[in-house]
Amino acid sequence: MSRQNVYDDETFFEDFRKSRENKVNFNDCIETPILFGMLPDLKGKAVLDIGCGMGQHAKQFADMGAASVLGTDISEKMLAYARAHNSADNITYRLLAMEDIGEITERFDLVTSSLVFDYAEDFGGLMRTIRGLMKDGAEFVFSMSHPIVTAWDGVYDRYTRTETGERLYANLRNYCLEGPRKVDWVVNGYECYHRTVSTLINDLIAAGFVIGECREAHLSDEMRERYPALFGGTIHRPEFIFFRCRKA
Ligand SMILES: C[S@@+](CC[C@H](N)C(=O)[O-])C[C@H]1O[C@@H](n2cnc3c(N)ncnc32)[C@H](O)[C@@H]1O
Repeated sequence: MSRQNVYDDETFFEDFRKSRENKVNFNDCIETPILFGMLPDLKGKAVLDIGCGMGQHAKQFADMGAASVLGTDISEKMLAYARAHNSADNITYRLLAMEDIGEITERFDLVTSSLVFDYAEDFGGLMRTIRGLMKDGAEFVFSMSHPIVTAWDGVYDRYTRTETGERLYANLRNYCLEGPRKVDWVVNGYECYHRTVSTLINDLIAAGFVIGECREAHLSDEMRERYPALFGGTIHRPEFIFFRCRKA
C-alpha cells in the first residue's frame, strides 16, 4: 500500500460530507476544539494546512487573522468543496499529496494538519519534510487517529458489550504490530497505517522537533449523555492524539 485517495470515492466522500454537514460529529465536537485550543495566535501568520479537506479549518484560520493560508489535499472532490464553500482572498487550495509537499517553495509560521497522517506510509520522512517547510520559530500542530484506534484490524468488535449492546470496555488487538491496516469501513478496503505512540514521539524527535504538548481526545459527560449511540465509546478510549511541536 502507498498513497490512496479514498476521499475521491463517491460513497466515501458523500458519507464524510454528510457527517461534517451535520455538526454533531467527531471532528466538530471533539477534534477541532482540542486542535484549535493548541494553536498559537494566527494574526499575520503564513499557515500551511496539510490535508485541508473541505477547507473548514483553512477558512477559520483566515477568519482568525492569518496573513495567508495554503491548503493542500490529494482529493479533487474535497478541494472542489473547499473552493466552493470555504474560500477567501488569502486562501489558496492546491491539489498536492502530502508525500509531495517538499515541492512547496514557501516557508510557514504554522504548519497544521487534522486527521491526515493516518494515511502516511513514511511518517518519519514526512516529519522531516514538514520541518524543512517551517520558518525559524514556527509551530507545528496536528492531530491523528489515536494509535489505540488504528490498531483495529476489522475482524472483531471495537467494544465488548452487554447483551443489550452497551459498551463495557474497548477491545485492543495487535497494538504492537505496526504497519498498514485494511478494513471495511464505509467502503470495502479502507486503508490507513497503524503506529505505536512511542513511534510517533520518536519520529518527531528524530526529525528535529521539540514536543511542547501532547493531548488525547476527551469529551464531556454531558455530550456523551446527549448522544450515547455516537459518543458512548469515548469514555473508554481517546479517539485522537494531538501534538504541538517546534523546531529543535
Ligand atoms: C479525515 S479527512 C480530514 C480533512 C480536514 N483536515 C478536516 O479536518 O476536516 C482526511 C483528509 O486527508 C486527505 N488525504 C488523504 N491522503 C492524503 C495524502 N496522501 N495527501 C494529502 N491529503 C491526503 C483526504 O483527501 C482528506 O481530505
